[in-house]
Amino acid sequence: MTGIPESAEPAEPTQPVRGAGSGRPAERTPGAHRARSGPAAQSGPSTYSASSAPATGSDQSGIVHGPRRPGIPALEARHLVKHFPIRAGFGSAQVVHAVEDISIALPAGTVTAVVGESGSGKSTLARLLTGLIKPTAGEVLLDGVPVGTGAKARRQYTSSVHLVLQDPFSSLNAVHTVRYHLERPLKLHTKLNRAERAQKMRELLERVSLTPADNYLDKYPHELSGGQRQRIAIARGLAVQPRVLLADEPVSMLDVSIRLGVLNLLDDLRSGENLATLYVTHDIASARYLADCIVVMYAGQVVESGPAEKITDEPAHPYTQLLLSAAPDPARAETPVLAGRGAPPSLVTPPSGCRFHPRCPFAMAVCADATPAPRQVGDDHVSACWLHATDLREDQRAPLVTAAAADPVPAVLAAQPSQGGPQAE
Ligand SMILES: Nc1ncnc2c1ncn2[C@@H]1O[C@H](COP(=O)(O)OP(=O)(O)O)[C@@H](O)[C@H]1O
Ligand code: SF4
Ligand SMILES: [Mg+2]
Repeated sequence: MTGIPESAEPAEPTQPVRGAGSGRPAERTPGAHRARSGPAAQSGPSTYSASSAPATGSDQSGIVHGPRRPGIPALEARHLVKHFPIRAGFGSAQVVHAVEDISIALPAGTVTAVVGESGSGKSTLARLLTGLIKPTAGEVLLDGVPVGTGAKARRQYTSSVHLVLQDPFSSLNAVHTVRYHLERPLKLHTKLNRAERAQKMRELLERVSLTPADNYLDKYPHELSGGQRQRIAIARGLAVQPRVLLADEPVSMLDVSIRLGVLNLLDDLRSGENLATLYVTHDIASARYLADCIVVMYAGQVVESGPAEKITDEPAHPYTQLLLSAAPDPARAETPVLAGRGAPPSLVTPPSGCRFHPRCPFAMAVCADATPAPRQVGDDHVSACWLHATDLREDQRAPLVTAAAADPVPAVLAAQPSQGGPQAE
């Protein structure tokens, strides 16, 4: 399994886990946390159920990606778009189409993983949700209420939504101690007196398993391991009792030996703090381990989403199949190389129609002409691919000759389970 070890150093709690393609963790099954009691974990009809999709066009289908839970999600984004303007020489204006019309809901007590290759728009989506950057279009709602733009609304939003970055060293100030990092948000956002703040700091360190707390309070970031620094960054966020945690590749810069401990901490916070968590990763195996729902992004768009086990056991979209085929799997003798099937496209001039078509081994004529709308392919499982359409004409189904299509389809793709998945009719 990519990056998640079977064991961890003593300071980090350990749990065994297996690869995405090889089944679920032996002791911590994804189903275990998904079955938890509590309001966020109740089953029942979704307020955000997917509607039937139109045959073509962008994602105006009303589909909201994310775990299905009754009630109003802690954080929701509707039709988010982000185009970064860039200069392309001699005044010609162009934009990077980083995020295209994404709607996502993060209910309390759940983890939503956003997976995709580098450059697919994952971090831009996370930054849009933090409010660090303004969307080109679309809106963000906290507890069902659109986020205001005034200073008071911004303050309330930043204390409710916490971002954990990839590099814990850069998110902590090297010249300040752990005490400073934890006490600052308590001073800014609470009315606790000095003694209460000291008590709270101890509780925070215990919450992230850094005990005894007194051993850590006067340490500087460089005196801590990468995993301990990431725990401090998380504890600092918890100081203001956030509703939402946005974790952008939180373990990818950590030693392999301590990744699992930090993932388990995020898992704990889901239930203990009832946090709505967005877990951004390029590692679909860790997404399966931690998440209730996986959202797969390609070139700024969501191509597939659904319950984590569905996405990894029965991927419906050829891109998800390709991602999974590249995830190390102990059951396979050789690991297929994703890069061997081409690279993600330019987001300045993205491919027409389905953005994945230049790399897709199943591409048809229609794929280069029109964008496939997301379609429901199973319970809460959505995929945007023309192979799911039943009403294509013969000429639309004609195989498209691309570099990828000319390559033989890797055995691992041809052998993928395809219930609800791509089956040319
Ligand atoms: N500030 C920016 N200005 C211009 N382009 C940007 C900016 N931030 C991100 N991008 C571009 O947006 C696309 C998506 O980037 P990003 O969200 O970082 O992807 P990921 O996190 O999936 O690797 C990339 O093409 C990236 O170069
Ligand atoms: S079959 Fe067509 S629509 Fe589906 S992923 Fe491939 S190129 Fe895209
Ligand atoms: Mg990123």
